[in-house]
Amino acid sequence: MTQNDFPILITGGAGYIGSVLVGQLLSNNYRVRVIDNLMHQQDSLKLFCDNENLEIVDGDIRNETLVKQALEGISAVVHLAAIVGDPACEKDRQLATAVNKEASQSLSTLAKEQKIKRFIFASTCSNYGKMETKDGYVDENSELKPVSHYARLKVDFEEFLFSQKSASFSPVILRFATAYGMSPRPRLDLTVNEFTAVLAVGEKLEIYGADFWRPYCHTQDIARVCQLMLEADESMVATQAFNVGDTSENFQKKTLIELILKELPEAADKVLFVAKDEDPRDYRVNFDKIQKTLGYSKTKTISNGICEYIEAIKSGAITDIHAQQYRN
Ligand SMILES: NC(=O)c1ccc[n+]([C@@H]2O[C@H](COP(=O)([O-])OP(=O)(O)OC[C@H]3O[C@@H](n4cnc5c(N)ncnc54)[C@H](O)[C@@H]3O)[C@@H](O)[C@H]2O)c1
Repeated sequence: MTQNDFPILITGGAGYIGSVLVGQLLSNNYRVRVIDNLMHQQDSLKLFCDNENLEIVDGDIRNETLVKQALEGISAVVHLAAIVGDPACEKDRQLATAVNKEASQSLSTLAKEQKIKRFIFASTCSNYGKMETKDGYVDENSELKPVSHYARLKVDFEEFLFSQKSASFSPVILRFATAYGMSPRPRLDLTVNEFTAVLAVGEKLEIYGADFWRPYCHTQDIARVCQLMLEADESMVATQAFNVGDTSENFQKKTLIELILKELPEAADKVLFVAKDEDPRDYRVNFDKIQKTLGYSKTKTISNGICEYIEAIKSGAITDIHAQQYRN
């Protein structure tokens, strides 16, 4: 019997990142169980429905009975389910707390009770907040300074997980860069995807905080890191936090626009830079640790992600870029 005989539980497996991860694990012969309440009415797992290695539990991680059942016979958990993003968490702060903190604590406690050792949590580089110095980089040892309810809840759950460390429970925290790129559940409320889509359909695009830095990472590379973490030797990763991305993929918003306009030169007059520093998140992130520990390096760049969304719009795979299904 190999480890792959026992399923991996992916919470939020029907989401933007989750559905890419599910596809990748299935193609690598993993057995996968997903628990997801399909809150965006997404049919992102339809593609894999006939795969006998996939089980789908259509339900809410706040339902403890269901979570207990979902954890039965599982070898590891990748916890992605959440109310995702600052606006979504601000819109319903109570729901965000109930899912991102309380249900997450209950899930990890139940996993620990059931002796499921590896618990991988999707956290965020947003936890670093604003950088102190303009030309520095933050790394895993930098102070966390969340500036939103979303990031605060991620930091709270990180702290809870670290406090749960034991010989039989080894949580791993992954702080994802802002994702871009295609997925069975495309998201058009994320910087690269949104800017590309708006310009690809010929609409006007207002850019705030053009000089602000952020790190980015392709959905497929994020999924690869999750798999690497499932397979990594415990002594290398247990009870540690890792930034997920590549140091060369930190960009200012104005540079993203330059990259998009390379593919869509006809949209140059649609971009308007607005001098209003609205978004307090401004950070450049160092990703050396994941490279050194896991030998990870990126396989995709921002330009790949830009081309994927242009293609999806040109081919008609995405028609209405403002449809709610593409937003959180
Ligand atoms: N996308 C990014 O740029 C990014 C960056 C950093 C961290 N993350 C983290 O990665 C994870 C996945 O993000 P995503 O971009 O795929 O978002 P997403 O919204 O597409 O995925 C979240 C999934 O969780 C499910 N879900 C929400 N509440 C649930 C509940 N109560 N019970 C069961 N399922 C529930 C949703 O239906 C959805 O499928 C999240 O934890 C997010 O915070 C994402």
